[in-house]
Amino acid sequence: GAPVEADISGLKAGEMMTVEWRGKPVWIVRRTPEQLESLNKTENLVADPRSERKASEVTPMPETRNQHRSIKPEVFVTVGICSHLGCSPSERFTPGAQPSLPGDWQGGFLCPCHGSTFDMAGRVFKNKPAPDNLEVPPHTFLSDSRLLIG
Ligand code: FES
Repeated sequence: GAPVEADISGLKAGEMMTVEWRGKPVWIVRRTPEQLESLNKTENLVADPRSERKASEVTPMPETRNQHRSIKPEVFVTVGICSHLGCSPSERFTPGAQPSLPGDWQGGFLCPCHGSTFDMAGRVFKNKPAPDNLEVPPHTFLSDSRLLIG
């Protein structure tokens, strides 16, 4: 599949957009400072905080093997497919108590199929059926507002 270009100039803090790449949904989230800060709170609750567990991603991107799993801290790019059986998780960005989420929920993603939860960096919580974090696809910044995925 060909690389896909995304214009993120209209993406506001706290918003998410979806582009299609190789038939898969790729999410781009512009995280707020609070959402980035929440990663410190989930650090010990996630199974693989530095994405070291999966043997190979589609293309290894060492520059995303960090706490925020992204090149620029605020811009998170991920494939919107659960690493368990391929359902599409849904966005649950609002912190606080919600059905099916822990009371101290910091915001992230919930897979409706078997209840896997992921934090604001797509890191899977411990003791969930999904074996891995959400995948980070290969991508580069063409400019501050243009991303090339693939
Ligand atoms: Fe997501 Fe099973 S497919 S938890």
